[in-house]
Amino acid sequence: MESDTVQNPTRRKFILGGLISGLAGFFIMLVYPIIRFIMPPPIPESSQNSVNAATIDELQPGSGKIFPFGNKPAILIRLPNGEYRAFSAVCTHLQCTVQYRDDFKLIWCACHNGKFDLNGNVVSGPPPAPLEAFDVNIGGKDVVVSKKA
Ligand code: FES
Repeated sequence: MESDTVQNPTRRKFILGGLISGLAGFFIMLVYPIIRFIMPPPIPESSQNSVNAATIDELQPGSGKIFPFGNKPAILIRLPNGEYRAFSAVCTHLQCTVQYRDDFKLIWCACHNGKFDLNGNVVSGPPPAPLEAFDVNIGGKDVVVSKKA
């Protein structure tokens, strides 16, 4: 009889401890993937400073091309006069990929109708800052895009 009153509190504490540990583990299993989804790991900035974006006969005047520059998209535009310009294709609003619209003679972001001129400056819409501009050089048959020094 005396042995029951001594052992029961210990057994209850053990079962309660196991139950709390199990619930805590279950809660962590539910919450951890949600937290990882909301806060993805930071992607390191690419160390790539230059890329062959196109060949010289690839783009017609008045057209543009999206190409990978490191781990982000960039845009190469050939103006109607044949001149090349290149920018980051990542919209400064919410990071959508922009595109060249020859009908507007502008760089356009389809997500929220953001518009940039052909110098990368904001013309209208919500983008808060201009697009990052890159240098463009012709090397043999390649159009080489580089980060500005
Ligand atoms: S993401 Fe480009 S305008 Fe909003």
